Amino acid sequence: MADLEGAGESRTYHAGVPQRDVGFFLKGMGHYDWGLQNRMARIFDPRSGRTVMLAFDHGYFQGPTSGLERIDLSIVPLVPLADTLMLTRGVLRSLIPPAGAPAVVLRASGGPSVLRELSNEEIALDVEEAIRLNAAALAVQVFIGGEHETKSVHNLTRLVDQGNRYGIPVLAVTAVGREMVRDAKYFRLATRICAELGAHYVKTYYVAEGFDTVTSCCPVPIVIAGGKKLPELDALKMAAAAVAQGASGVDMGRNIFQSEAPEAMLRAVRAVVHEGVSAEVAHALHLRAKQGGEGA
Ligand code: 5RP
Repeated sequence: MADLEGAGESRTYHAGVPQRDVGFFLKGMGHYDWGLQNRMARIFDPRSGRTVMLAFDHGYFQGPTSGLERIDLSIVPLVPLADTLMLTRGVLRSLIPPAGAPAVVLRASGGPSVLRELSNEEIALDVEEAIRLNAAALAVQVFIGGEHETKSVHNLTRLVDQGNRYGIPVLAVTAVGREMVRDAKYFRLATRICAELGAHYVKTYYVAEGFDTVTSCCPVPIVIAGGKKLPELDALKMAAAAVAQGASGVDMGRNIFQSEAPEAMLRAVRAVVHEGVSAEVAHALHLRAKQGGEGA
């Protein structure tokens, strides 16, 4: 039993000091409960307000993607450098060491393979399983304008209902059909619908024109996907432009794990996103690290 001696004599009431209420650092998240805010703060670094998510969930519809054939060899060494991992529960359990792992965002929708109509997804993860795996968030694909648009939107809203019940944020991933135009007008529509329907943050693609209008009219944080592999400097320029125009970070896959020097690339992306280093400087650091010189 605790020693009670002196317990009743404390005089440090600080009666004249008003309690300071600290607001939450992420856009649109101020009214959520403690557990949900805590999970968001495991994904987004409170110091910069941004995140570098390492995405390697591509196998959930396309199998062993180039660069992800052996996740134990290509991705596991990168794990300590990411703020957050975006992956499937299968890979999490099979290949990711639980000790020291950063926040995980679990792929929670799926169904069709790359051989079929991709928008025809179902919810593919139970919220209890997400809790068991200590997930920081759930990710669901939303196909605005797609053949199964309504079904994918219902997948989002059902996961948001479950996520809010247990304090688990939901990341809406805006998926663009091959035939659709990827412009600011489309992404304003898609991201805003996801946020209106309760997504806690939204993943979209960067567009060269008008991206600031996509972020400004979305009431919750936006992160960008990297998309197909680009030359490293171009990928870094894209990340820099996105955060300068209001993105809260990146959820990047192929531009990191398909790079010739994935670790150096991930460090360079971190420098751009968290430290505001220019793409050119980050690229120079990347080249130096790649050549075995001093790291970025
Ligand atoms: C797959 C995804 C990926 O996580 C997302 O596209 C990010 O990866 P990349 O940077 O390679 O585009 O949602 O559907």
